[in-house]
Order: sequence, then C-alpha cells, then structure tokens
Amino acid sequence: MELNDAIRLRRSIRKFKKDPIPESYIYELLDAARLAPSATNLQPWRFIVVKTEEAIQKLSKCTPLPFVTQAPLVLICCIDHEAFNERGIRVQELQESGAFVDTPLDNTDSTKYIKQSQMDEDTAKAYMNMNAAIAIEHILLKATDLGLGSCWVMMFSQRKLKQTFNIEDRYTPFSLIPIGYADQQPIQRPRLSLEEIIIHEV
Ligand SMILES: Cc1cc2nc3c(=O)[nH]c(=O)nc-3n(C[C@H](O)[C@H](O)[C@H](O)COP(=O)(O)O)c2cc1C
Repeated sequence: MELNDAIRLRRSIRKFKKDPIPESYIYELLDAARLAPSATNLQPWRFIVVKTEEAIQKLSKCTPLPFVTQAPLVLICCIDHEAFNERGIRVQELQESGAFVDTPLDNTDSTKYIKQSQMDEDTAKAYMNMNAAIAIEHILLKATDLGLGSCWVMMFSQRKLKQTFNIEDRYTPFSLIPIGYADQQPIQRPRLSLEEIIIHEV
C-alpha cells in the first residue's frame, strides 16, 4: 500500500472479527516497530505478544475496554528502562556506522555527550515514552498496510498488567495495541484543518 493511503485509511478500530492473523504478520508488525527512529537510537520499546486465548482472557482483567480483548492479537508495548543507561553504546554505534559524518557529533566523546544530556526522572520518562510512541505509530500504519485494524490504547491498569504477565521491574507497560481484521468501517474522524494547525508561514 502507498504510504499516503496507509496514513489516510488508518482508523482506530474498536470492533474486531475473530479471524486469526497470519503468524508472519505479527513479525512484520514488530519489524515495523523495530525500524522506528529514536533519539540517540535509544530503541526503548519492548513488546509482549498476547495471542493465545488464555493470555487474552487474562488481559481482559487489566483493561476496562472489552474491545481490546476481542482482538485476536494484542501487543503490549513496554518501555525498557535499561535502554536509557545504554545511550553511550547507542551513540558510539551511530558514530561507528557513519551516521554523524560531517557533523559535530562525529567527534564528540559519547560518555561526555551522555553526561551533558542528563535528565531528571520525569523528563527521562517523557523522553522514553516519546520514542516508544513512534514505534507504535509504525505498527498502526503497518497494520493498515496489511489490511488489519488496530487501536492505540492507554486505558489499562499498569499494576494488574505487571502482575498478570510477570513483567520485570525494568519494563513499564506503556500502551496496548489490539490488532485484528476490522469489523467496522469508520469514516474519517474529525481533524483540525490545515489553517488551524499552521501558526505562521515565514
Ligand atoms: C496516545 C494515544 C492514546 C490513546 N488511547 C486510547 C484509549 O485508551 N482508548 C481508545 O479507545 N482510544 C485511544 N486512542 C485512540 C484515539 O482516540 C484516536 O486516535 C483518535 O480519536 C483519532 O481517531 P483515529 O485514530 O480513528 O483517527 C489513543 C490514541 C493515542 C495516540
């Protein structure tokens, strides 16, 4: 599918058919996430793939939204806090891959760079979430490309989810992404006009 079509046709789907998704699609979706851009190539996204009926049943106790667990597949996107501590390695990899050629970043000492960009806990959390959000959008667009419906869901109990799926402390569940064949064909949702989102053209 053309990118433009994927962007225009994507909708948040809240009604799914029971039909299973081909296994290969699951890896195509995750691979789309893997290729997302991230600050200093942080890649803080990690996923729990919920696809058995038993696991989906368990998940239903963690969200007040029944449509989430009517989907045959739910990806739980988690933030890996360890990723933040590996920024130095990521910057070094980028330097070695030539990403920063002809920029001041090419010769910057990666340890010094990381020291200079320290953040308080709240800022670091927002930073990690922002990066994971990009991977999620890649998944939503890839789902559309594969003829699947999806929805980005943040209404769930983190505590219950961590307990139910034995999620280690280094991971924080960030979003749920139910995915399946759509059982509805929503019209485009309201959007602001271009005039409303352009502050100035200078
Ligand atoms: C960060 C984020 C969180 C969202 N959380 C939820 C949610 O918890 N439940 C839900 O039904 N939809 C959720 N959505 C979907 C939005 O409601 C939806 O994207 C918006 O209404 C526009 O509709 P569209 O996606 O069909 O274009 C979320 C979307 C985003 C980007």
